[in-house]
Amino acid sequence: MPAGNLLTAAALLFTGCSFSQMKHFADTLNLRFFNSATYNKIQGDLFKVVNEAWLLEREKVQKEVENKMLWLAGDGRCDSPGFSAKYGTYTLLDQETGKIVDFDVIHVNEVNNKSTNMEKEGMKRSLERVISKASVCVLATDRHVQIGYSLRTEFPEITHQYDVWHVSKSISKKLNAKSKIKGCEDLKMWIQAIINHFWWSVSTCNGNPDLLKEKWISVIHHCVDIHSWNSCDLFHACAHAPIPPEVSKNKQWLKRLSKCHEQLKVVVLDKFLLRSLEKLTLFCHTGELEVYHSMMLKYCPKKQHFSYEGMVARTQLAALDHNNGTERDQAVVQKGERAGELMYKQVFPKCSKRWVLKPIYVKKNFNFRKDLMSRTVEVRKEKIALPAIQKPNLPKNIATAPKPSRDEAIESHRSRMTAAHKDV
Ligand SMILES: *[C@@H]1O[C@H](CO)[C@@H](O)[C@H](O)[C@H]1NC(C)=O
Ligand SMILES: *[C@@H]1O[C@H](CO)[C@@H](O)[C@H](O)[C@H]1NC(C)=O
Repeated sequence: MPAGNLLTAAALLFTGCSFSQMKHFADTLNLRFFNSATYNKIQGDLFKVVNEAWLLEREKVQKEVENKMLWLAGDGRCDSPGFSAKYGTYTLLDQETGKIVDFDVIHVNEVNNKSTNMEKEGMKRSLERVISKASVCVLATDRHVQIGYSLRTEFPEITHQYDVWHVSKSISKKLNAKSKIKGCEDLKMWIQAIINHFWWSVSTCNGNPDLLKEKWISVIHHCVDIHSWNSCDLFHACAHAPIPPEVSKNKQWLKRLSKCHEQLKVVVLDKFLLRSLEKLTLFCHTGELEVYHSMMLKYCPKKQHFSYEGMVARTQLAALDHNNGTERDQAVVQKGERAGELMYKQVFPKCSKRWVLKPIYVKKNFNFRKDLMSRTVEVRKEKIALPAIQKPNLPKNIATAPKPSRDEAIESHRSRMTAAHKDV
C-alpha cells in the first residue's frame, strides 16, 4: 500500500473530515486522490486503531478515579432532532476532572426502533460499566423524566441531581411568559433579579433542601418590599443589608396581592419546581457536556450518514480529543507591557445576559492525533491484528416498511406526476 494513501486516510479520519469533502477539495486542486473504495478499505483498519486508543484512555481514566467517590454529569445526544434519529450517544463526565469516563452509542434498532428510548438505554449501559470499576456517588442530568425514573428504580444508591442551569432557564422562560400577560408587565424588570436570587439560593443552601426551598420562596416577599416574615422555619429575613429609604423609594416594588404578584407566586410556588429543588442541593452543572456535544459535531456532523462502526469510531475520537484537551494551563500574555499576566476574555452568555470574565486556556496541541498516526503505521508495518469494534446485531437500514420493487416505485412516481399535471 502506498504510504501516502494510508497516512492521508488516517489524517482525514483523525481530524474528523469527511472523504467526500476532501475528494472535492483534491479534484478542485487537480490533486490526485484515491477513490472511496480505497478509502473505505483503509478506514476499516483505522477504526481498530481508534478503538484501541479509546479503550486504553478509558482504562486510564477509570484507574485514576478507582478510589474516589465519583460525581458524574450525564447527557444524551441524538444525531438528528425528534423521532427520526438513527444513533444516540450518552456520555458520562467526571465533574472534578472534566474527563469523559465512558459513553455509549445506541442504534435505534437496539431499543425497539423508539428513538426516545435511546437516552435511557445509553445511560444504563455506560453507568453500569463505570459502576463495575468505580463508585459513583452523584449523577447530574437534565430533567429527562425517563432518566429520573430509571435512576430511582435501578440505581437507588446514586444521588440524582439536576443541572442548575436547566432549571434556571426554565424559570426564566416561565417568568418571561407571565410578564407578557396584560397587567403583569411590571414583572419584566424583576426577572434577572429573581434568577440571580435563584442561583444565590442554590449555591448557599449547604446541601439542605428545606433551607433551599425557604430561601427561594422568600423572593415573593422581597419583590413586594417585605424583608422579614414569620411563615418559615429556617429563613426568616432577606440576607441583604437594610435598604436605605431613599433607595427603597425609587425601587419599583411589585404591589402586594396584585395580579402581577399572584402570577409571580404561580411560578415560584409551582409544585414541580419545588420538587425539583430537592435535586439541586449539591449545585451541580452539566454545562461542560453541552460544550462537548458541540465540539463532537466536528467529528460526527448531524447531517452526515455513518455506519455503526463509523459512528462509534468518530465518537471515540471526539472523546479522545476532549480528554486530551483537559489539564491545560491558563494562557499567559507573551509580549508587551502586560507580558506574564494571565489571559481572560469577556463573554456575554445568552442565559445570564451579563458580561462575565472567563479564563483563556493555552491552545489544544492535539497530541493524541500524533499517537494515532504512529500507531497506524506501526500496526500496518508489524501486521498487528487489532480487535474490531463490537457491533450489535443490526438490520441494514432503519426503514420500518419493506422497500417496494423498482417497477412499483417507478409506476407510483409516474402516476403521482400525471396527477400533479392534471391539477395544473
Ligand atoms: C425495527 O426496524 C427494523 C428495520 O425495518 C426491523 O427489521 C426490526 O424488526 C424492527 N424492530 C422492532 C423491535 O420493531
Ligand atoms: C494528550 O496526549 C499527549 C500525547 O499522548 C500526552 O502526552 C498528554 O499527556 C495527553 N494529555 C492529557 C490531558 O491526557
